[in-house]
Amino acid sequence: MSGYSWFEGIPFPVMWFQKEIVEDIRNMFVVKEEDLIILTYPKSGTHWLIDIVCLIQTKGDPKWIQSVPIWDRSPWIEYSNGYPVLIHKEGPRLITSHLPIHLFSKSFFSSKAKAIYLIRNPRDVIVSGYYFLGKSNIGKNPESLGTYIEWFLEGNVLYGSWFEHVRGWLSMRKCDNFLVLYYEDMKKDTKGTIKKICDFLGKKLGPDELDLVLKYSSFQVMKENNMSNFSLIKLDLHPNGLNIMRKGKGAHPTHQPKDKPTNAH
Ligand code: PPS
Repeated sequence: MSGYSWFEGIPFPVMWFQKEIVEDIRNMFVVKEEDLIILTYPKSGTHWLIDIVCLIQTKGDPKWIQSVPIWDRSPWIEYSNGYPVLIHKEGPRLITSHLPIHLFSKSFFSSKAKAIYLIRNPRDVIVSGYYFLGKSNIGKNPESLGTYIEWFLEGNVLYGSWFEHVRGWLSMRKCDNFLVLYYEDMKKDTKGTIKKICDFLGKKLGPDELDLVLKYSSFQVMKENNMSNFSLIKLDLHPNGLNIMRKGKGAHPTHQPKDKPTNAH
């Protein structure tokens, strides 16, 4: 299938892919103990989690998230514009990645660096991905939702099979330095999830600071923050930037199977 750059059977976005970088990440890149790694399958709430983590680090002060683009605060390691930033950055790093476990840095698995893996219900991942791709030139453009579902089930979408991605990373769930979160839980109890992240990171935030994290990571505030909403990315076909903040709804709760599915778009 064209429209992607392929690496060991995994489709990558052409515009940010360099084979040498993906090879280097696995074999050469050294994770530091003080790094924090944010791991997601695409369209699972990556940007939301990054902003929450940044706000926890600043105790709710929004200056950082309002003045520095999200890809500079927590660069995507596998992207040609992220990797060089990370390898030259001194001190603790925030690292974002959509990589499946078998392509991630081997050094992570023997380090004490912390990682958070965020999972979203695949039905919402599909809908989010479908509308995002339909409006971007980042991957192959599906002509219908049905077609995109077929590609998704075959793993012929960016970063390959959701099922393999989740199964692979969930194998780490019992490790002390690995926190698994669910988008649907974040929607249902955002403050509770923020507290959980604070506990995991060993950060103590007062009630007012927690409220600030909640406020500045809300969908509406993030949608209007040019440093988080990807509007700064000017692509040939998208002079107004990419629409990362589409609806921000968890339409299909994973933990309440009795709920009737609703139309997510
Ligand atoms: S990407 O491009 O793969 O990195 O996208 P990602 O950030 O992983 O996922 C995008 C979806 O996350 C939603 N989002 C949020 N939901 C709730 N609250 C907040 N603050 C928030 N920020 C981002 C975003 O709207 C995308 O989901 P959909 O369903 O398309 O709206």
